[in-house]
Amino acid sequence: MKIENRIIQKKKAVERELKRLLYRENSVLFQAMRHAVFSGGKRFRPLLALASGECFGLSERLMLPFACALELIHNYSLIHDDLPAMDDDDFRRGKPSCHKAYGEDIALLAGDSLLTMAFEVMSRASLEEKFLPRKEKVINEISQMAGSEGMIGGQFMDITASPDKMTEEEYYDLALKKTGSLIIASLKSGALLGNASSSQVKSLEEYGGAVGLAFQIRDDIMDSAEREKEKSFTCPNAVALFGLKEAKEKLRTLVDKALQSLEEARLDSEELRFLALKLLEYKSGDENG
Ligand code: IPE
Ligand code: IPE
Ligand code: MG
Repeated sequence: MKIENRIIQKKKAVERELKRLLYRENSVLFQAMRHAVFSGGKRFRPLLALASGECFGLSERLMLPFACALELIHNYSLIHDDLPAMDDDDFRRGKPSCHKAYGEDIALLAGDSLLTMAFEVMSRASLEEKFLPRKEKVINEISQMAGSEGMIGGQFMDITASPDKMTEEEYYDLALKKTGSLIIASLKSGALLGNASSSQVKSLEEYGGAVGLAFQIRDDIMDSAEREKEKSFTCPNAVALFGLKEAKEKLRTLVDKALQSLEEARLDSEELRFLALKLLEYKSGDENG
């Protein structure tokens, strides 16, 4: 099967599992959770987790609870990120953000519920005996990377930083935490469950770090194209800091670095290569893309 089709199949499997989890009730709370989750996300983190698991011979069925948990955490973070007290964004994926559709109070709770559900899903995953200590490691890794020293630590830096005075190093530090953390956790969940060697884990961390930074720079490039005439940046943005040309160069260099980490570790995963290269496809608002 062609790589594009394999990715589509995996995305469908993730979608099915997320539907199973989120259509079990029809309360307004669940409606708000579904509004956030089923609005056209790329499912990038679950795809990374499934691809990483595959590198170590793990089946899709085994990886799915972890892949979906990562997507639930991601979606909770987006609901809270869009709130007026944070980025104050009325739209997410071209649709009204959760608080615009359901109100701030319900959006807050929908985010809380998605986060909590992620841990319910992982702890409930029934696995063979030998996987149990590995599962504990994965839950520990994901909680750390999603928390105050990972993604939330990055969100804190994002809202407290002075966007104009930021150095390149500070920007990387922030992006690595706010966006890189969950991406690295996605890759490590496959590696830890698959009992990867420490050098393989390290290479996947390197790949994840580079992909995470590339991902944020790409997001900033697309964001800057949209905001051009609208409002100036109140939070750090790679285009505002480095200029469009340099931001694009950095993105390419990071994707190359990610591919190199895979090669060095001899992790022959067409999917991980494909997902990194996908980051070079985006709309930047200038015709040279
Ligand atoms: C957007 O993430 C927020 C960042 C961490 C940069 P994605 O681009 O993965 O969002 P969706 O889920 O595909 O909409
Ligand atoms: C969101 O980052 C990161 C998290 C929610 C952890 P951004 O604020 O840069 O992403 P968008 O532009 O809202 O998607
Ligand atoms: Mg935002």
